[in-house]
Amino acid sequence: MILPYPLIRPFLFALEPERVHRLTLRALRMGLAGGPGALASPRLRQTLFGIEFSNPLGLAAGFDKNAEAADAALRLGFGFVECGTVTPKPQDGNARPRIFRLKADRAVINRLGFNNEGHRAAQARLTARAGRGGVVGINIGANKDAVDRAADYVAGYRALAASASYVTANISSPNTPGLRGLQNPDELNDLLARLVAARAESGVHRPIWLKIAPDLDAEAIAAIVEACVAHGIEGLAVSNTTLARPETLGSAAKGESGGLSGAPLFLPSTRALAAAFLAAKGRLKLIGIGGVASADDAYAKIAAGASLVQLYSAMIYGGPDLPARIVRGLDVRLEREGLSVAALTGRDAAAWAG
Ligand SMILES: Cc1cc2nc3c(=O)[nH]c(=O)nc-3n(C[C@H](O)[C@H](O)[C@H](O)COP(=O)(O)O)c2cc1C
Repeated sequence: MILPYPLIRPFLFALEPERVHRLTLRALRMGLAGGPGALASPRLRQTLFGIEFSNPLGLAAGFDKNAEAADAALRLGFGFVECGTVTPKPQDGNARPRIFRLKADRAVINRLGFNNEGHRAAQARLTARAGRGGVVGINIGANKDAVDRAADYVAGYRALAASASYVTANISSPNTPGLRGLQNPDELNDLLARLVAARAESGVHRPIWLKIAPDLDAEAIAAIVEACVAHGIEGLAVSNTTLARPETLGSAAKGESGGLSGAPLFLPSTRALAAAFLAAKGRLKLIGIGGVASADDAYAKIAAGASLVQLYSAMIYGGPDLPARIVRGLDVRLEREGLSVAALTGRDAAAWAG
């Protein structure tokens, strides 16, 4: 980093959020925000489904939608990066403005609507970097005008699984009308059956995570868990952004439509994560996402049931040094307590879910 982020941030926050995002991607690609590279320790390291994660902190989907900056993001200290969401055809997404900072709440509202360059562009970039190592997952979705949404996920697996470490099926973006309907039992069973059939046919076996909304009760989460187990899906990513608007929000932009992420999402998404952990009874691996901004937040997600943790919004407020700070802080705490990520996973799930 050329200047400390707290000095740059006021200038960035004077600009439109989407413009800052484009500048950030460009700076990352140009290597302007170096970093320590993949951080690791015996406490942080895990092998899940044959994938070696040097540490459990990942960059959440949406930051690098088109797989332009995966290697630069890995250099910041993340143990893995999830690119996407990618849809079969390129699409523009919703009208601007469509990203809003809720500064006082350390939160973000977005209604991007899967703006992305499509499978082909992502596939070319992922293939070009495939020999470089590092865990890079791909998050797949459906085009807004898809008649058969499940077919778009099948196409996503076929086009992108071979050049990614794992695949996340995102059925929980609130910004594509009807998409969250895929979480309902009938639609979900159809989707999962077709997705695992495509995986078997393709001969490319990558773990599949299903990314769900935080706006589900424990019963709905348990039904999703059983569907995943029945179809042989490896895990759940909990969670996407929320449609809820907690009473505590103080920022003017709180009335914008879209999905809310960042600090106010921590509590509901961690409760949903714990509910998923208790329902899964060891049969799925969970990624905990939502409001992680510190080592203690990451620790809490793991204790609530996560094997892996992701963040996005906190990068906007904390800057590019944040992932390394979180990973180092988590390692120090685990060492002090004589724990590893695997040993901590789910320890406090009952308390969180209760
Ligand atoms: C601007 C923005 C764009 C996002 N785009 C996607 C996306 O394309 N696919 C997806 O699965 N999640 C997307 N998300 C959700 C994040 O991956 C994450 O689940 C959510 O923001 C909660 O984590 P956070 O509180 O650390 O931001 C997006 C979030 C933000 C803020």
